Amino acid sequence: MSKDTYYVTTPIYYVNDLPHIGHAYTTIAADILNRYHTLLKQDSFFLTGTDEHAKSSLETATEKGEEVQEYVRKMSNNWQKTWQELDISNSAFIRTSSPQHKQGVLEFFSRVYAQGDIYKGHYKGLYCSRCEEFKTKRDLDADDYCPIHKIKCQAIEEENYFFRLTKYKEQLLQHYQNNPHFIQPSGRRKEVLNYVQDYMEDISISRQGLSWGIKLPLDPTHTIYVWFDALINYLTGIGFGHDEKHFKHYWPANVHLVGRDITKFHCALWPAMLMSAKLELPKQIFVHGFFTLNGEKMSKTLGNTINPLALKNQFTFDAIRYYLFSEIPFGADGDFSLSQLKERYNAKLAHGLGNLCARVAKLAERTNADYNLTPPSLKERQTPEYQTYMDSLNFQKALEYIWNKISLLDKEISENKIWEQDDVELTLTLKAIIKELLCIGILLQPLLPATANTILNHFSQQKITALKPLYPKML
Ligand code: MSP
Repeated sequence: MSKDTYYVTTPIYYVNDLPHIGHAYTTIAADILNRYHTLLKQDSFFLTGTDEHAKSSLETATEKGEEVQEYVRKMSNNWQKTWQELDISNSAFIRTSSPQHKQGVLEFFSRVYAQGDIYKGHYKGLYCSRCEEFKTKRDLDADDYCPIHKIKCQAIEEENYFFRLTKYKEQLLQHYQNNPHFIQPSGRRKEVLNYVQDYMEDISISRQGLSWGIKLPLDPTHTIYVWFDALINYLTGIGFGHDEKHFKHYWPANVHLVGRDITKFHCALWPAMLMSAKLELPKQIFVHGFFTLNGEKMSKTLGNTINPLALKNQFTFDAIRYYLFSEIPFGADGDFSLSQLKERYNAKLAHGLGNLCARVAKLAERTNADYNLTPPSLKERQTPEYQTYMDSLNFQKALEYIWNKISLLDKEISENKIWEQDDVELTLTLKAIIKELLCIGILLQPLLPATANTILNHFSQQKITALKPLYPKML
């Protein structure tokens, strides 16, 4: 019997930053998938965490006069607390400074080394300290500026250890060809193919004289490059190197969710590392777009990032989830605007869904009848259409599908003027409508979990009473 597990990951976030709405975007997408597969009764595992060995962690801790371990612990706590307060359903939280992770990285490294895939070389190049990546002139704007972070890249020259990435060129191309869904959406796939075919080079995987990070076993004057260390979290977070049974249970991952800024690392370097270590590849890497904030790039330097907790207090977290995933097709770039969020909130949540629930509850209270309807399970009630949308991570279409159902119910109520029916007839009409509403609640569960819960609890009661507005209108 094939195992019915599901494993989804987010990138592990750099501790230096505070969580903002862009990070929340990827994390919510993973949360939706985890909830969806759990509701389908699959054994689902959702991993997120923090990437702690970046040079900037050490630099900031030093500036603040703090011990780096203590600094990363505090910062990592911020991330964990944020996800908890947002009720994110992650199964585990990986920290790359943990001993289990280190053990896994060393094990992984020794496998790659045994394949002859590590060699010593000389590196000279331009380095972006925010991307933690060596760049070629072709990657950069004028004057060696990083196009993502708008900072000047530094020229670095040192002795490094390299990973023979180019050895895996043909194998990678073959894998992309045999597995058309490995990289999604297809535009990203083309971009990666182009890179692997024409530009990919061996990659330096160590830094000299850096005191923070995992020491290279071959040569302790070197530290393992932060990306080579970080990618392995997807393995160590489920037990690689310390709990083989748990690891084998969930690996390979069904999907790694990543933003388009880190496409190459996940679609070329990571699979090549796995090939070298003789481990299975993840089934899919889904690359989503970036969004701007009111038309501007969001960044710490510009000071225009939005804290998801503050936004939650203003709008509720489900409203943010609704807005992000109904507005921006998952995979494409988009824009986040507070005025548009408010407009959608009023139109689709306060008016659309909220209004429908309030109308039905009020009429049901009037009948004073016993309803006693049991919500179906997602597995039995999802339609092939909804399933296709969820399976292809087309959350926008899944929401649209649900909102069509909402409009249809609304229309049915208005056109048939059901409030004019006598109580006996109205009870019968309402039973059918409430069944549909429970179905809407079920389909909403992975996407807007708190709203879905309220709907499911309220409309499965014996006596249904009036309901206070799910989403009070915002002025
Ligand atoms: N630590 C690396 C990832 C290592 S994974 C093995 C890293 N961290 S990060 O903190 O910079 O997070 C980057 C990720 O945050 C992006 O890939 C994306 O998932 C998310 N986003 C950050 N800003 C975003 C937007 N403005 N829009 C959408 N997603 C955004 O890179």
